[in-house]
Amino acid sequence: MDNYLAGNTNSPIPFPESYPRDIISGNGAYVADASNNQYVDLWMGYGALLHGHQHATEKKTITQQLSNGWFFSYPTKLETDLAAKIHSLIPCAERVRFSTSGSDAVAYAIRAARRFTGRKAVLAIDGGYHGVHENMVSNTATLSLEMPDLTLFNDNEMTVAKILSKRYACFILEPILANNGCVPPDPGFLEAVRKACTDTNTVLIFDEVVVGFRTSVNGAQSMFGVTPDLCTLSKAIAGGLPLSAVCGKKDIMEQFLPSGEVFFAGTFNGSPLSIANALGVIESLETTYPYQEMDQFREQFSQDLLKLARKHDVKLAIQGATSMMSLAFGCTSYRHGVKEANANPKTYACFAEYMAKEHRILLPPLYTETIFLAPAHIAIKDNLLDAFDKGFKWLSANTRS
Ligand SMILES: Cc1ncc(COP(=O)(O)O)c(C=O)c1O
Repeated sequence: MDNYLAGNTNSPIPFPESYPRDIISGNGAYVADASNNQYVDLWMGYGALLHGHQHATEKKTITQQLSNGWFFSYPTKLETDLAAKIHSLIPCAERVRFSTSGSDAVAYAIRAARRFTGRKAVLAIDGGYHGVHENMVSNTATLSLEMPDLTLFNDNEMTVAKILSKRYACFILEPILANNGCVPPDPGFLEAVRKACTDTNTVLIFDEVVVGFRTSVNGAQSMFGVTPDLCTLSKAIAGGLPLSAVCGKKDIMEQFLPSGEVFFAGTFNGSPLSIANALGVIESLETTYPYQEMDQFREQFSQDLLKLARKHDVKLAIQGATSMMSLAFGCTSYRHGVKEANANPKTYACFAEYMAKEHRILLPPLYTETIFLAPAHIAIKDNLLDAFDKGFKWLSANTRS
């Protein structure tokens, strides 16, 4: 069939050849294509599907909200309720605003920080990702770039020195570097940047688009005991429906129109369908989601994979936290991001291609991306290990990792 998508795809990521191009459904740990081939999904909606596909409670909430209507241009009770819920859970969330995508939320947060400080420059992490807007995209061919200055994750000295220059409106980072090898912060790193930001009136933004709600219902900021000035949330918050939030200190947040002058708008901001689902998702996270079990599962799964890799002489590093993990071939450890470790992208791509083709297991298609585990993966752990065993054997025979 002719494909009229630009570049034959709706994504900048080059998917391996053997990946299906016609997914039509998802259930639990699996997605299925139009010919009903089932694939294990290890990417889980870029992390949005904390519970896996078609979680029964979410399905019920969404169906119920559909019967009440799914879009209004007036203030809703749902948005007030969700703002109150986020305020009660996320330490920095004195005030909350809803938007639609992670990129929107980051753009609003940076805009507010610039107004608050009267400074323009932005400091970010080398290899980090914060969305598609012009202030943050580092490898685009557009001409209208305002690139952030960059520092290294887990490099206290370089990062603190840059912040102390008092040049920056904000320092934005993921508290766990989920977008570049899933690197947890070294003890003291977040504390050091918090202090430097406070001392220089630099707005500290934690981009918790990926890690918020995945690490803990109180956000990664509570896990590490470091409270930023602003934080962005998305993905897991609404179980795969489009929703994001900016939250943070009252005096920064109240700058948004209409209480202040900073522009913040969006037709689909605070979609009732997404917010209804978010309220249900958060309730399940507070009551039944097995955070501890997922953490133990990821830890054991990582150890088992490393053992298999060693058995086949495959050089592999695995890093992760809670239900996220990253595979890096060709190195054994890294602290600043997987790129810095010279992890081998080609080996990863070959491996992903093989796993999809021979075992119908879909890894994230790019080596910097993160594997997201769901509770439904626990029951198929042995099948996964068996397939990875064969995969590492194949890799060892066919490539140099
Ligand atoms: C940390 C982080 N921030 C922002 C974004 C942008 O979110 P979106 O793709 O919803 O615009 C992403 C997307 O992956 C992300 O991982």
